[in-house]
Amino acid sequence: MTVVSQYDGTIEQVELGRGGPLVGVQGLGCMGMSEFYGDTDEAAARATLDAALAAGVTLFDTADTYGLGRNEEFLAPFVAAHRQEITLATKFAIERDNEDPHHRGVRNDPGYVRQAAEASLRRLGVDVIDLYYMHRRDPAVPLAESVGAMAELVREGKVRHLGLSEVTGAELREAHAVHPIAALQSEWSLFSRDVERSAVGAAAELGVAFVPYSPLGRGFLTGAFADASRDLAAEDFRRHQPRFTGENARTNAALLAPVREVAAAHGASPAQIALAWVQQRARLHGLTVVPIPGTRKAARLRENAAATRITLTEAELALLEPIASRVAGDRYPDMTFTSASREA
Ligand SMILES: NC(=O)c1ccc[n+]([C@@H]2O[C@H](COP(=O)([O-])OP(=O)(O)OC[C@H]3O[C@@H](n4cnc5c(N)ncnc54)[C@H](OP(=O)(O)O)[C@@H]3O)[C@@H](O)[C@H]2O)c1
Repeated sequence: MTVVSQYDGTIEQVELGRGGPLVGVQGLGCMGMSEFYGDTDEAAARATLDAALAAGVTLFDTADTYGLGRNEEFLAPFVAAHRQEITLATKFAIERDNEDPHHRGVRNDPGYVRQAAEASLRRLGVDVIDLYYMHRRDPAVPLAESVGAMAELVREGKVRHLGLSEVTGAELREAHAVHPIAALQSEWSLFSRDVERSAVGAAAELGVAFVPYSPLGRGFLTGAFADASRDLAAEDFRRHQPRFTGENARTNAALLAPVREVAAAHGASPAQIALAWVQQRARLHGLTVVPIPGTRKAARLRENAAATRITLTEAELALLEPIASRVAGDRYPDMTFTSASREA
């Protein structure tokens, strides 16, 4: 039995995609520090950023849409203090509306790509973005045009590497033919495995790293909440996700029993088992995997980093295997917001 509670070393480094930057094998999702998951204690969030770096976590993930730019601004002082030590990833494409908090527009046109990149550079206070993702795909705009515009930013030295989020395997191949793609960021966890239909195989074949987002199922896999409408604040984004409320949440909470069983065998937490599971996909599918769990707490950061030391046995993987197929409810209220809606 391995006892893994807190991390006291630095995590391993991997190349983020063929020719990509060297990063810690686990990154940090910074989204919740500014929006979506309830109130944030700014000092605790800043301490989490420092704890990440101390643990060897070097890939920091944000997007222009998180907090309508506030998350990038929040990161700017940390980025300035550690520019050479970190890999800074941000994203464009999701347009919000100040009047309607639920509105999500998607823009991929070349003019918008440029305008969004300039705004992110300004808010982050940097000359270059290390990894620039297209956050969502607008099928009405040819990929060659949007990826072409992103490639132009690379040629101008404003961006170092390109990434895509929530694209299918076919879309990843098409984009990669226009310009090498370093990383694909999509939801991948014990609860969300639709990316295994085509995106994972394409990434493995092309040498594109996979960056699983929401690897803790937005916290549900940790047992931190059981029903979003009962346990979370009124404005929490997770109250609108079908799988986290009512009858679906009850069904899904029961699916966590094997996660707890495996956790107990390792002297680990369910969060660590969820992270070890997604990390171990790397070996199984033959690709680099760099999950970006989100946390605003230094102790949880260290706990999550420690998961990189856990190896699950074949028997444990078999126990966890059926979970995703039994999950009740979609991962988004509107699945056209995901790559799954464009899979055959
Ligand atoms: N490309 C996309 O479309 C997309 C979509 C969603 C997210 N993302 C990115 O992916 C990152 C991670 O995803 P996520 O934040 O949605 O979900 P996640 O990483 O699956 O879960 C985050 C939630 O789990 C809690 N948590 C973290 N570590 C924990 C632990 N050890 N024990 C108990 N609870 C723990 C966090 O709470 P505390 O903060 O209170 O610790 C938070 O509520 C985001 O920050 C964002 O950068 C990208």
